[in-house]
Amino acid sequence: MNPVTDVMDLFRRQRAVRDFADRPVEEATLRQVLQAALHAPSGSNTQPWRFIVVRDEATRKALDAEYTTAHARPGEAPSTEPGMMAKAPVVIVPCIRVPERTGVAGFQTGASIYPACQNLMLAARALGLGTALTTSHRIRAEQVHAILGIPAGWETAAMIPLGWPDRAYGPNHRGPLDEVVHWDRWSE
Ligand SMILES: Cc1cc2nc3c(=O)[nH]c(=O)nc-3n(C[C@H](O)[C@H](O)[C@H](O)COP(=O)(O)O)c2cc1C
Repeated sequence: MNPVTDVMDLFRRQRAVRDFADRPVEEATLRQVLQAALHAPSGSNTQPWRFIVVRDEATRKALDAEYTTAHARPGEAPSTEPGMMAKAPVVIVPCIRVPERTGVAGFQTGASIYPACQNLMLAARALGLGTALTTSHRIRAEQVHAILGIPAGWETAAMIPLGWPDRAYGPNHRGPLDEVVHWDRWSE
């Protein structure tokens, strides 16, 4: 995928990329997309996040096995083919501190981490990198925490494979604006 410099075009060009070229991603590039994540908003600017950047192949394969198991349909054997966490050169696991108080505006689990995920993914796309937001692994949280050494009090919000896409991707397709936008109040 080509880099994207026009910000409004960037939103249209973001796709879920699950297949990657066999090409490493430089650490300086990773630092750029991680820096973008850190500029995201969070409740009261608490920045309750950590980002585990997994480059190690054995660790990615272990995460892939958990993801594949979690993603398999009930009653179906998980695929034995290497999945996207194994094929991507990098897997980013954004983590969020479990809030002490829930139900307080801005402190809902997820609300303070997914903006950072989106910043990261858009920055990656701007550079021509592909990512996919995935959450299926969360039903295997215990196993994933053990693999990554995540301490108590933290949760993984997502598993984001990141790499150079295997091919070009067209723009994303979403429904029309007028079907989902209400002006001033909800209307049919
Ligand atoms: C909350 C959430 C969870 C997702 N979980 C997964 C997942 O577990 N596995 C996966 O392959 N894609 C996952 N996705 C990616 C979506 O399938 C993808 O964003 C959607 O199909 C749109 O794709 P497109 O942007 O290429 O059009 C998830 C996306 C979101 C927002």
